[in-house]
Amino acid sequence: MTERIHVCVAWPYVNGDLHLGHLAGAYIPCDIFARYQRLRGREVLMVSGSDTHGTPITVRAEEEGITPREVVDRYHPRDIEAYLKLGVSFDLYTETDTENHWAVTQDVFLTLLRNGYIYRDVMDALYCDHCKRYLPDRYVEGTCPYCGNPSARGDQCDKCGRTLDAVQLLEPRCRFCGHRPRIRQTEHFFLDLPKLRRPLLEWLSEGKEHWRPNVLQFTLNMLNDPELRGRPITRDIPWGIPVPVEGFEEKRIYVWFDAVIGYLAATKEWAKLIGEPERWRDWWQDANTRSYYFIGKDNIPFHTVIWPGMLIGYGNLNLPYDVPANEYLTLEEKTLSKSRRWVIEVLDFLSRYDPDTLRYILSINMPETRDTNFSWSEYVRRTNDELVATYGNLVHRTLSFAQRNFEGRVPEPGELSDADAAILARADGAFQTVGDLLDGCKFKAAITEVMAVAHDANRYLDAKAPWFQIKTDRRAAATTIYTCLCVINDLKVLLAPFLPFSSQRLHHLLGYDTDIFGRQYTEVVQEATRSHLVLRYDGSTLAARWEPSRVPPGQKLPPPTPLFSKVDESIVEQELARMSGGA
Ligand code: MF3
Ligand code: ZN
Repeated sequence: MTERIHVCVAWPYVNGDLHLGHLAGAYIPCDIFARYQRLRGREVLMVSGSDTHGTPITVRAEEEGITPREVVDRYHPRDIEAYLKLGVSFDLYTETDTENHWAVTQDVFLTLLRNGYIYRDVMDALYCDHCKRYLPDRYVEGTCPYCGNPSARGDQCDKCGRTLDAVQLLEPRCRFCGHRPRIRQTEHFFLDLPKLRRPLLEWLSEGKEHWRPNVLQFTLNMLNDPELRGRPITRDIPWGIPVPVEGFEEKRIYVWFDAVIGYLAATKEWAKLIGEPERWRDWWQDANTRSYYFIGKDNIPFHTVIWPGMLIGYGNLNLPYDVPANEYLTLEEKTLSKSRRWVIEVLDFLSRYDPDTLRYILSINMPETRDTNFSWSEYVRRTNDELVATYGNLVHRTLSFAQRNFEGRVPEPGELSDADAAILARADGAFQTVGDLLDGCKFKAAITEVMAVAHDANRYLDAKAPWFQIKTDRRAAATTIYTCLCVINDLKVLLAPFLPFSSQRLHHLLGYDTDIFGRQYTEVVQEATRSHLVLRYDGSTLAARWEPSRVPPGQKLPPPTPLFSKVDESIVEQELARMSGGA
């Protein structure tokens, strides 16, 4: 296993608040993975940022009568606030409307042009005579030619997941005025996918057994399609990165072409921020670095075909090691939809509930191999029965008992019985089993296994019943509580990638005064002509390791407080009522 792990995470359009769909798709799995790898002692760099370009942003701006930049300025800080509150520990979370990103994008564009992977051609595009403009991507809607979905967008069909050219839509209509656009010719640059087909297929034939089968199959289907054509990577639109070629002053680089370059640009920005501008090479040019891309399934073609194709065309840059794309999250069994207001926004959720309870439900119910559902009743049930009654109760019973009977210190154990040794071995052994699952991006199975250990530890505690032992054999009670404290100490680390806040609280309750992880903070980056807000992570104080450890007998334990509190049943109805305006 390699020691350097590059965690690349989808760049969300910054046209609205982050919601639970985003978290389940990418921002929870990436963070579990990054935190776990850090605990393993591996060098981790997790990057992403706001996707500020393209029609998702301009549509929003037009709807509100503000500029695209104002849309970015409103939502980018809110997204960062959500990551801070939820503990999504990006080493760098930036945005795409920066001088650095523009420069890296234009360099990639020009290099691909020079290397012969980009060509110019005249194409048909949709033009609205009424609005007097071209209708790229989301400016047009119509029927999907593949699956018949009547509300496909010009860039992609959300139903079948295929990427589209706007002209392929049947019955196209202008998003703004409803008129049927006409076809008009326009000149653009194209990424030469047919030329990249062979090198991409070769790359895919080399050891991709660890890929999720649906991701690999989708990719192979796309590349083996005889209809595979070049893809336009510029647009007739005024917002975006200028095309660095004479005669193209009115056009912009396509948002998807620049957004994926964000992974490289953000690494370069990070290297400049730490004052070692060449350090980006560790992540992109050392063959021992593994890069993982955390994305939702609608982003698969861009990460397994287009971005790797661009990397091959550029040359001498690492291709993705894995692209563990997730499926979708439904809400109360209905498709999540921003336009139909059937969403739960992260900041709204966190204004009422604990971040780890959200991380828990989305981890134990993660849409890895199939769509999964979030419901408020399941949220209440799992929080109360699993976090409070299983894990929290184990912790609280143990700590309270030590507080009351052993002067608030870790007791000195007697000789361990078979049962004591067995539960300790169970917890210790989980570092291997759970670690293997996490290395394989099997997050749901991983947390399920940790919770099974907590469950077994509860049964162990019930069977030992130290509240009876203490009456006749103080030494035996001490051994039981010592054993439980060590199991809890293991659980603290095993759960830390999933539940970083409660693990940190438990770390203190076990008498430690260090930080399990490092620190997240925001910073304003000043460039020559503009500035932008970034989120960063400093792991220099990381104080835990992914391995079994023992709490030292005699260690002082502060008075215990519950790790989690129960959520009242009545919130189910309240929350459903709150959502009932939607869908
Ligand atoms: N902005 C896109 C979305 O929200 C994702 C872009 S991912 C990247 O669906 F690869 F382009 F960065
Ligand atoms: Zn129109």
